[in-house]
Amino acid sequence: MKICMIGSGYVGLVTGACFAEMGNDVICVDENAEKIELLKKGVVPIYEPGLKEIIDRNARGGRVVFTTSLEEGVSACQICFIAVGTPQDKDGSADLKYVLQVARQIGALMTGYKVIVDKSTVPVGTADKVREAVREELVRRGLGSLEFDVVSNPEFLKEGNAIQDFMRPERVVVGTDNVRTAALFRELYDPFVRTTNNPVLLMDIRSAELTKYASNAFLATKVSFINELAILCDMVGADISQVREGMGTDSRIGPRFLLAGPGYGGSCFPKDVQALIHTAGTLGHSLEICQAAHRANQKQMAYFAGKILSYFEGLNVDLAKLKIAVWGLTFKPKTDDIREAPALAIIEALLARGVSVHVFDPIGMDNTRRVLGDRVRYAQDGQDSYGVLDGADGLAIITEWNMFKSPDLGRMKALMKSPVVFDGRNILNPQEMRAQGFTYFGIGR
Ligand SMILES: NC(=O)c1ccc[n+]([C@@H]2O[C@H](COP(=O)([O-])OP(=O)(O)OC[C@H]3O[C@@H](n4cnc5c(N)ncnc54)[C@H](O)[C@@H]3O)[C@@H](O)[C@H]2O)c1
Repeated sequence: MKICMIGSGYVGLVTGACFAEMGNDVICVDENAEKIELLKKGVVPIYEPGLKEIIDRNARGGRVVFTTSLEEGVSACQICFIAVGTPQDKDGSADLKYVLQVARQIGALMTGYKVIVDKSTVPVGTADKVREAVREELVRRGLGSLEFDVVSNPEFLKEGNAIQDFMRPERVVVGTDNVRTAALFRELYDPFVRTTNNPVLLMDIRSAELTKYASNAFLATKVSFINELAILCDMVGADISQVREGMGTDSRIGPRFLLAGPGYGGSCFPKDVQALIHTAGTLGHSLEICQAAHRANQKQMAYFAGKILSYFEGLNVDLAKLKIAVWGLTFKPKTDDIREAPALAIIEALLARGVSVHVFDPIGMDNTRRVLGDRVRYAQDGQDSYGVLDGADGLAIITEWNMFKSPDLGRMKALMKSPVVFDGRNILNPQEMRAQGFTYFGIGR
């Protein structure tokens, strides 16, 4: 099939590359000329394991090309995926300006039948708005009778594991209102589910739109639930890892998304929970559980920062003279994405109290520099994670990169001014840390 992928970010690039990998012809469009130039030169502008290999292979085979020209994409392809950002607006709603702008542009360019697909995460009712936007442009051009369909096909990939998730999805959700597009999408996704027999779930458009938000809000709630209990574990002297094991082995509950940490972040959960709350709010309905999940998450980030600050306050240390090292900035491992990363909120809380913060992340340093600028100190080029420990009063581990899981404790102790570790991901062994002379704090253990 000939596919136009509009928006070549984390979702658009992975989706476009994986469709090409299955033999489709894909044109990836982005308005960011710098991004497209890099892609044309074979440089992938984001960090996603395995993505470069797939792009290289398919670019060589001519199955994926990159352009800033939407006209080129729309004229060559019958299926146009919209995969642009839907950031959080001031009132918590999803800002649809990029999605609707693209819809209008498609309406202004198309000359024959098109299938327009909402791949971006968009609130219930957006397909209708996309349809309206396209129709308005067609009418303006005197082409009001030109046919097109709108499909909702939300994406469930996880950054860091996106290729695997897209190539072998647990399910594909497709919202359609006619048999023509239903058949087309069955065919498009068949290669991705043929070996696993996982389902392509065809449903009505509004249900598909809501499914994406329901999934993210549920997962965010699971994380907030375990985080809230982790604080209670700290208070009562229980161990959240053992509690998780005890409850997670119940097949009705399951162990996933039950790891206590410094709060959820990323480009999806925070904004999607807010957008769902907003959608319900506009209809006079209050989503109590989602609101609580959001509040608990805010509290969790403050709790972790508070743990660090209150320890040193208890020692009557002048916070303005304190140096805290941070390991891990991205919102999770195996991505360079720092959008809404807990590390940012935690670092802000430390900076607000005058603490000097020295940071290291294997992949996320450049993106962090764009946000925090020179307000923190960065591990210098070529320095490994240990560089930032030199003279540090404490270390905060915020992202669970594998490289932090078995550190050289002797080297750490020799470098740090005081061997205090705040393990925001519970990746180190408390007994061993204490036996090696560290003052160790996890979350809920
Ligand atoms: N990142 C994820 O893990 C993930 C997972 C599932 C769903 N989603 C959803 O997918 C959507 C995209 O997310 P993302 O993380 O890929 O965003 P992103 O910011 O990485 O990429 C969006 C891209 O769209 C481009 N763009 C914006 N307006 C454009 C226009 N008019 N024409 C052409 N290109 C345009 C931007 O330049 C950018 O490159 C969002 O709705 C998001 O919620 C994201």
